[in-house]
Amino acid sequence: MPVMTTPIMSESDVRAAVARALPGVRADLERLVRIPGIAFEGFDHSHVERSAEAVAELLRGCGLDTKIVRSGGQPAVIGTKPAPPGAPTVLLYAHHDVQPVGDLSLWDSDPFEPVERGGRLYGRGAADDKAGILAHVAALRAFGDQLPVGVVLFVEGEEEYGSDSLESLLAAHRDEIASDVIVIADSVNWDIGVPALTTSLRGIVNCFVEVRTLDHAVHSGMFGGAVPDALTALVRLLSTLHDDAGSVAVEGLVGREGASVDYPEDRFRAEAGLVAGASFFGTGRITDRLWTKPALAILGIDAPATAEAPNALVPAAKAKLSVRLAPGDDPKRAYEALRAHLERHAPWGAQVTVSFEHDGAPCVIDATGPMFDAARSAFRIAWDGTDPVDIGLGGSIPFIATFQEMFPEAAILVTGVEDPHAQAHGPNESLHLGEFARVCLAEALLLAKVAEAARRAG
Ligand code: BES
Repeated sequence: MPVMTTPIMSESDVRAAVARALPGVRADLERLVRIPGIAFEGFDHSHVERSAEAVAELLRGCGLDTKIVRSGGQPAVIGTKPAPPGAPTVLLYAHHDVQPVGDLSLWDSDPFEPVERGGRLYGRGAADDKAGILAHVAALRAFGDQLPVGVVLFVEGEEEYGSDSLESLLAAHRDEIASDVIVIADSVNWDIGVPALTTSLRGIVNCFVEVRTLDHAVHSGMFGGAVPDALTALVRLLSTLHDDAGSVAVEGLVGREGASVDYPEDRFRAEAGLVAGASFFGTGRITDRLWTKPALAILGIDAPATAEAPNALVPAAKAKLSVRLAPGDDPKRAYEALRAHLERHAPWGAQVTVSFEHDGAPCVIDATGPMFDAARSAFRIAWDGTDPVDIGLGGSIPFIATFQEMFPEAAILVTGVEDPHAQAHGPNESLHLGEFARVCLAEALLLAKVAEAARRAG
């Protein structure tokens, strides 16, 4: 018996419907930005709860069967709408938790009071990743009751804190979320005016290293010169992590050259905000350094603050390290390599203790096939004929590797909601509103094109 198929909205109807949806979407984005839902330990998690409620309300408003779920961690929201007969199901991922805001004095406006300046909406989470949630909502609202695919909205509540309970959540709801296509709206576009599909992502290993040389602080005049202080020992140890050119010098980490595009150096310098006279470090093309090679950064040090430091030798000091892993590396193996390096390079017999914080796997996506073609064609239309670029991501979305294992048949489309000026995770995070309109249109067109591609495949 032939399957009854409903007509798929035309491109111009989709365009008009998205344009009509945008003002409401913008207002709802602002509403979400006002909720400071931070999943990190030590923050008031009642805001994450409120944020999950607000997201659930949005999904219910789109006619989705919606529930808030958790598995020991912070609340995620799942909303489903079954596929029309014969149509595919698309999982739409975003996260509703945000990064802490850090030093408030560095913000030009309240991080949790969204404000528009120069065509950008400023606020923590305005881009990463509340814009991702609203891009999904915009597409759903545009189609109303003519949605051409089934959808599963999955909006996580602890992505910025390492997604610790995500794996068990996905396992517990495996059947509800099983999909043909997965759209992860949590990456970045190549430039303002140039869309991107993210096809590789770095992994991550975060850990702490503590160095101890003394069992208590002693007078720096009485003992200095013969007794090493722990801070000097720590700094010397940390200096072994890079070679003179600034490449990571930890033996055993994977890295290669061969990124798909070049990053113009001037543009990159400006986007990074590198100060006059400072040079890049590492070797090879910028995109290789960012996408296909490891990076290591010292994120923080516990030691006496300069304003209060007495003339005493510091007995112990601790640093937090973060390694970005190239695709092909393994987080457990990489952690062992780093631990071995730190223990081997302990200066002057200092005691070195390494402790693990969290990790996430890198991944590579084979971005070929009809669903990727559908996405590229949607992007091209939304950006008025500009072809999307395949990019790597220096950052990490560790659970993509989990999705790949759980749903090996699904096409995973990692799409951008940020632009290179978004300053996600930093002060003055913002969303380019013109680009956001294109992101919303692209997502709606993508759903239509995925439905068309599935029909053609028959
Ligand atoms: N949205 C980011 C991923 C990203 C990074 C997009 C850089 C665009 C540019 C994501 O929310 C994120 O920040 N991930 C964390 C993962 C970590 C907590 C395991 C990251 O990369 O630090």
